[in-house]
Amino acid sequence: MNVTIIGTGYVGLVSAAVLAEIGHDVVCIDVNEEKIQRLRNGECPIFEKGLPELLEKNKHRMRFLSDYQQGCQDAAIIMIAVGTPEKKDGSANLSYVFGAAKEVCYNLDHDAILIVKSTVPIGTNDEVERIVQENLTKEIHVEVVSNPEFLSQGTAVSDMMQGYRIVAGCESDYAREKIKALYEPLKQPLVLTDRRSAEMIKYASNDFLALKISYINEIANLCECLGANVEDVATGMGFDPRIGDKFLRAGIGYGGSCFPKDTKALHWMAIQNDYEIKTVKAAITVNENQKFRLLQKAKNYYDSFEGIEIAVLGLAFKPGTDDLREAPSLAIIPALLEDGAKIRAWDPCAEDAFRGQVDNSAKGEIRFCGSLRESLREADLCLILTEWDQVKALTPADFKEMRRPIIIDGRNCFCLEDMENEAIVYASIGRKTVGSL
Ligand code: UGA
Repeated sequence: MNVTIIGTGYVGLVSAAVLAEIGHDVVCIDVNEEKIQRLRNGECPIFEKGLPELLEKNKHRMRFLSDYQQGCQDAAIIMIAVGTPEKKDGSANLSYVFGAAKEVCYNLDHDAILIVKSTVPIGTNDEVERIVQENLTKEIHVEVVSNPEFLSQGTAVSDMMQGYRIVAGCESDYAREKIKALYEPLKQPLVLTDRRSAEMIKYASNDFLALKISYINEIANLCECLGANVEDVATGMGFDPRIGDKFLRAGIGYGGSCFPKDTKALHWMAIQNDYEIKTVKAAITVNENQKFRLLQKAKNYYDSFEGIEIAVLGLAFKPGTDDLREAPSLAIIPALLEDGAKIRAWDPCAEDAFRGQVDNSAKGEIRFCGSLRESLREADLCLILTEWDQVKALTPADFKEMRRPIIIDGRNCFCLEDMENEAIVYASIGRKTVGSL
């Protein structure tokens, strides 16, 4: 089939590469000419495991354009995969989705299915349908389908190739048949429903996962008070298939471009409808507080961070990505700088993105270190914010190179037994603090 995808963010580009891989001819449209040029030159503009290889392998089936007219020419299916950034009040900004839908209407001259892949509030697809009917310039039939995406950054290619399910909200048999044909080669369970339910499945799924994380984080905090070990608790819970063993890793809270935005969006949608979704609201509050657990723990060792050399390991919101959106580092580091800390930050790929975020007027200072060793050397304290493999590969001996080996691990990277009895202090989340200086 001929598929045109609007938006070359990680959802759009990964979908494009995977659809090409399963045999479709794909056109990607993006208004960012520079990005399109880079893609034409064979460059992958985003950091995503396996994506450069997949783009290279399928380049004969992919084209990159910035012109809608050319891009829509032969498309049987058009997908909108543009951003829906969060507005100040927590609602989603839909102007890019609606703008893309209008462009399609102005440039399309044949029947097509218009898929909305972006995460959009419930009812948006109906609104897109209205926009389409109002703006089509030819006597053609365009049907709007809600087809949310469930891939995660860092594992997006395998998530899409081996997804748990495909969800499509269609209003006719014609659309349902097209969707079946599009995704048939992926051999994944297909959930066909109406458009509003498809939109809700996306929010309900993301918010449930966010809730699960906030829940285990609260259990972790309570474990600390009561002398239990959250890792063992999560293992014990996870064997029950009704609970599941995924997303029970306690830490300093969820970040990224999805959970923080989607929890707030659902909360906002509820308020708009005179309803309060109390569980999601609680997950948001717990997550906000959880980011600062490390600082509270560090205060057990330093009354003030003024002049203290602090190794900060990891800046990205999770490993495998250079994305900083809603990363705990963006809340923790400014607080430390405000207090006058001297930060020695390390991250294998989010360093450049972080540089642009630093407020140079703060009392403290930040230095970016090229290696973990450089970051740890002469540090009085180490904070672990992202569980990169390189961090997990460190040994107690590596930490002993610090001036004062006090480690506060926000991602539970190390086994307590390995740290116990070493001349270091190791505090983590939901577990006892071990070691002494
Ligand atoms: C999330 C969902 O997992 C995807 O299914 C969804 O498609 C995507 O949002 C989206 O809506 O686009 P993503 O934000 O890329 O994917 O990352 P996750 O791997 O889900 O992690 C989100 C955050 O939760 C990270 O900060 C991670 O550190 C944290 N997390 C995750 C925990 O703190 N504990 C866990 O057990 C799991």
